[in-house]
Amino acid sequence: MNDRTVMIAGNWKMNLNLDESANLVKAIAEEIQGLDGVDVLVAPPFTSLPAAKQAIGDARILLAAQNMYWEPDGAYTGEISGQMLVEAGCSHVILGHSERRSLFGESSEMVDLKVKAAMLMGLIPIICIGETLEAREAGRTFEVVKEQLEGSLKNFIDEHSMPPSTILAYEPVWAIGTGKTATPEQAQEVHHFIRQWIEERFDKDTADLVRILYGGSVKPDNAKDLMSRQDIDGALVGGASLKADLFVPIIKYQES
Ligand code: PGA
Repeated sequence: MNDRTVMIAGNWKMNLNLDESANLVKAIAEEIQGLDGVDVLVAPPFTSLPAAKQAIGDARILLAAQNMYWEPDGAYTGEISGQMLVEAGCSHVILGHSERRSLFGESSEMVDLKVKAAMLMGLIPIICIGETLEAREAGRTFEVVKEQLEGSLKNFIDEHSMPPSTILAYEPVWAIGTGKTATPEQAQEVHHFIRQWIEERFDKDTADLVRILYGGSVKPDNAKDLMSRQDIDGALVGGASLKADLFVPIIKYQES
C-alpha cells in the first residue's frame, strides 16, 4: 500500500469534435458522481479545451492539454503557450508523448524545456517515456528509459529537486495503439526501475510521492491487474478513453 491516489487519464489525441468532446465529458461526469479515491483527467485536442472545461462544470474531472511550446509568446506559428492552456482551463499538460517524439521530432531536451515552462505557469506536467520494440528486443529498455528520464527531467536534476506533484507516464511504444499491452509484470518492473531512479537522483520522499502511470492498450479487462501492482499508480489511456462505456469501467477498475 502507498499514499498515492490513482489517476486515470484519457489522451484523446486528434479525435472528437466540439459536441463529441462536451458529450463525452458529461457522460463521464455522470458516471463518476460520488466516486472517491481516483483522480480522473481528460486531454482533448486544443480546440475542444474550453468546451470540455465548460462541460466539466463542478465535476471532479481534471483537464489537460496534449502538448505546449516553451516560449511564453512570440512568432511561433502553430504553437501554443502554457498561459493559453491555463486560460483554457487546463491544470495539467502531457509532454513528450511518444507520438510527439517519433512523428514530430521532439527530443528529450525539448521536453525538458517544455517541462520547465509548464512548471512556471503552474501546470502539472505528465511526462511520457518509453522504449521502442527494437530497444526492448535489444535488451536496452532500462538504458533508454534512463536516458529519457535524465534528458526530459534535466532542469529538476540541475535544481536537485523534483516537485512531487510531477506525473510520469511509462508508455512502451510497442504497446501504444497496437492492442499489445505490457504484462503487469513487465510494466511493474520498469515502474520500479523509474521509482528507484527518482530515489537515487532526488530522495525517497519524492520517489514515494511521484505518480507513475502506465500507458499502452489499457482496456477495461486489463486495468485492474495493472493497477494492483505496487509501482503502477494509474493509466494514461488512448483508444479506450474515447468512449464512456470503455473509459468509465477503467476508472472503476476496482469494481470489476
Ligand atoms: P492506447 O494509447 O491506449 O491507444 O494504446 C495510449 C497513449 O498513447 O497514451
